[in-house]
Amino acid sequence: MAGRGWIQLAYKSMFDCKLKDKTVFLRVDINSSVVEGRVVISSRIREHAKTIYALSEEGAKVVVLSHQGRPGEEEFIGLKRHADHIKKFIGRPVRFVKWDEDYVSIIKAMKDGEVVLMDNTRFQKEEQEDKTPEEHAKDDFIMKLAPLGQLFVQDALSVCHRPHATVVGFRPSMECVAGPVLKKELDALEKLEKIPKGKLVVLGGAKLSDSVSILRGMLDSGMCNKACIGGLFGELFLKAKGVDFGAKEKLFAEKKFDKMLPDAKRILEKYPSRIILPVDLAVAVQNGNGDSNGAAKFNAACPPKAKRKEIKVQELPCQFITMDIGTETTEIFKKEIRASEVVVFNGPMGVYEQPKFSIGTKKILEAIAFHRCFSIIGGGDTERALTSFGLVPQDFGHVSLAGKALLQYLSAEPLPGLKILEKKK
Ligand code: 3PG
Repeated sequence: MAGRGWIQLAYKSMFDCKLKDKTVFLRVDINSSVVEGRVVISSRIREHAKTIYALSEEGAKVVVLSHQGRPGEEEFIGLKRHADHIKKFIGRPVRFVKWDEDYVSIIKAMKDGEVVLMDNTRFQKEEQEDKTPEEHAKDDFIMKLAPLGQLFVQDALSVCHRPHATVVGFRPSMECVAGPVLKKELDALEKLEKIPKGKLVVLGGAKLSDSVSILRGMLDSGMCNKACIGGLFGELFLKAKGVDFGAKEKLFAEKKFDKMLPDAKRILEKYPSRIILPVDLAVAVQNGNGDSNGAAKFNAACPPKAKRKEIKVQELPCQFITMDIGTETTEIFKKEIRASEVVVFNGPMGVYEQPKFSIGTKKILEAIAFHRCFSIIGGGDTERALTSFGLVPQDFGHVSLAGKALLQYLSAEPLPGLKILEKKK
């Protein structure tokens, strides 16, 4: 049992099912960073590889499904290299199958324990359409796959917020159950729900789409009682309070802040004491003398010579670009962390890829790690950030492999990928 409000999810684990002789469709999320054409091995690949191994060991015919990147992005590539990584982790063959091969005959001919990894599911154009399970069940490729399988295993919380074909489309035709990686995530969320108060969310990062409504959902539902907000997200709220950032306004225009400001203002009015914003920020001064040519660009590749300078929010507007939260803000956020029973962290406080501007993110993560609270750490880049700060997953209650889906869950918004696991009556 897991879930809250919108769904008391009574789901079955894959280990409660007979697996031998069954053709199992396993939805994982091995969507990974790609650096100079290399697929970076991440916890996602490592963790889902264990599920693949377990299914194969139990004698199932395992058909693995995952996406990688988004159309138009550099990271939108096939899964051949992922198959090689998984092969090494599980120590047994993984057959990589492209969508233009006769995949129906290949799957039909599989023997117990064999593993097939289908190519990037987003190479199928219907995959990414937002539709109901019944509508997706009529997609051409789902209609070809579904008659071949007897069980659908969802193993990735990180895709459950997407009503995509390989997330919901098998529900009408077969039993749908949870894999162990998803179960671990749901167990952690259930633990969080049982703690009645003292729940803090620390939000940051630069991906803002839907974040404002998600934050409102988290506060409205009581899933979190207070929010410390840094990164670009925090700056959106400062702007909603009327702060002019000067040089960074151009970036805000590109990020379409204008559209999000009315919602941000409304939440600030509703929860004036529950949203804690930065009081100081660190800016990048390229030549250190403060002249107008000194403004560094807001990106991870800002010139290595740029110096860190801290300014109070009242000193804005400024010709320099803000890159991190300041020392005073860090101390305020740390005090909130120490006063909390539960802390959920999602998204860095600044441009953490650069050591000078990683201080805020590092100190906040250390404060969470060393405080005796139950913590859930999520978000795409989290693993990279933890490693670069010398922290390990064991320092936290739970390190989620999900980002947006985790926040959507906490905002009490339905997750279509979880709904399909509801046991049929
Ligand atoms: C993620 O990285 O958060 C998941 O793989 C989902 O990817 P998406 O946001 O492109 O759907």
